[in-house]
Amino acid sequence: MAYDNILVETSGQVGVITLNRPKALNALSSGLIRDLGAALDAFEAAPDVRVIVLTGSDKAFAAGADIKEMAEKTYMDAYLQNFITQGWERVTVCRKPVIAAVAGFALGGGCELAMMCDMIIAADNAKFGQPEINLGTMPGAGGTQRLTRFVGKSKAMDMCLTGRMMDADEAWKCGLVSRVVPLDDLRETVMRIAETIADKSLPITMMVKEAVNTAYETTLSQGIHFERRTFHATFATDDQKEGMAAFIEKRQPSFTDR
Ligand code: HXC
Repeated sequence: MAYDNILVETSGQVGVITLNRPKALNALSSGLIRDLGAALDAFEAAPDVRVIVLTGSDKAFAAGADIKEMAEKTYMDAYLQNFITQGWERVTVCRKPVIAAVAGFALGGGCELAMMCDMIIAADNAKFGQPEINLGTMPGAGGTQRLTRFVGKSKAMDMCLTGRMMDADEAWKCGLVSRVVPLDDLRETVMRIAETIADKSLPITMMVKEAVNTAYETTLSQGIHFERRTFHATFATDDQKEGMAAFIEKRQPSFTDR
């Protein structure tokens, strides 16, 4: 299927979605968000796609929600449309792993979208920020909530109140991103990580993802309980039997997603 605002391709077991509004630094218009949702639906339904990569250009992952589209909205427009809930959080309910490959600007809604993914791999030119305060508004897609959980109160306050950008090195030091690589190596590194994950058992991968995400939604004791019950459930799978047998027999496992 062809989209107006994104490019979609499959490489091996990995579905790649590239945000593609270069003239607007991939500003997240409602059309782009609709395209993103449809592409995620398609990849989630595709049995051959086991991991999804979300990326932008070398200059911008995404420079935020589309300011030109937002500028004239009234309170009632925003309230009645439930502005941004529609479609934006599609990535957070994706059950397959989603990796954000971020080069250049990831600002405002762009930073929020990257944080909705399961991990962020950054190029060394990446810049993250929540500059909404400079526009007389504030983060509306998780910037005050996810960023605070990921980097702590003081740095989240710093980012959201000053509107400054942080570079890739700072983002790595504070745990916002899991790895930083030279820009030229970003795609290859991310595809290698994605293929590594794609080679695991898909149901176990989904269980791990759900358990880690539960850490952000619940108390520690409830999270530990969820983890333990899910861990028990892995013993009902063929892949646990195969994985442990392969270890004992000193061979590579051959998972069947059962
Ligand atoms: C619409 C945008 C845009 C955006 C850039 N552009 N960001 N259009 N919405 N968020 C457009 C510019 O208008 C310009 O188009 C073109 O992209 C290139 O941008 P420049 O500013 O000329 O590039 P540069 O000088 O390199 O500066 C890059 C930049 C700057 C630092 C990223 O563009 C910038 O500050 N952008 C806004 C970042 C921001 O405030 N994001 C938060 C948005 S609010 P023209 O046609 O004019 O040449 C938000 C709220 C989220 O995200 C809440 C819920 C979703």
